[in-house]
Amino acid sequence: MTIRLGDKVPNFQQDSTEGEIDFYDYLGDSWGILFSHPADFTPVCTTELGAASGLKPEFDKRNVKLLGLSVDSVEKHAEWAKDIEETQGHALNFPLVADTDRKVAKMYDMLDNNEQAPATVRSVFIVDPNKALRLSLTYPAATGRNFAEILRVVDALQLTDSHKVATPANWRDGDDVVVLPTVSDEDAKEMFPKGFDTVRPYLRMTPQPNK
Ligand code: BEZ
Repeated sequence: MTIRLGDKVPNFQQDSTEGEIDFYDYLGDSWGILFSHPADFTPVCTTELGAASGLKPEFDKRNVKLLGLSVDSVEKHAEWAKDIEETQGHALNFPLVADTDRKVAKMYDMLDNNEQAPATVRSVFIVDPNKALRLSLTYPAATGRNFAEILRVVDALQLTDSHKVATPANWRDGDDVVVLPTVSDEDAKEMFPKGFDTVRPYLRMTPQPNK
């Protein structure tokens, strides 16, 4: 199943390290990040789960709930969590789905092409409070993801929603932003009292409005 940006993501119920999870109930009115990893007790995955746990307070501040997933069992996840805490300096602080029957992985198209025993790749799905898919990423097994970048993207998505601005290449929180092309100059004057710089009629820069 292909889930496109803007689609409502499918709900699921599956076992996890924190008991049976209903994805929609788990998210409630929050944003969510569902992300998969290839296998427990593997090196890159161990660092990723530690990094995500370390950034959880930042995701909390942005009203974002994390949910990890692989095709390993709850028992294996629980055993591996001890290693994550001991080696990465952060205890696992969000649930890990045990998708042993690959139900969720198939639904979200997260599996690799190993015909005998397909494993999940490094997928990321960022979902807004309406359960709409706002971003998806797929990384290969040997490349760990940058969780600071995932946090940066959440900031960009939330800023677009709240202030009708877009974020330019390499934008960081506090940098100037782009007035959306759908906003007229007249409306922009009212919406951005700090003013905006018309570099080209289609490229108008303004200070980040919520700073
Ligand atoms: C890892 O997490 O290190 C990993 C997992 C599967 C294949 C290669 C690397």
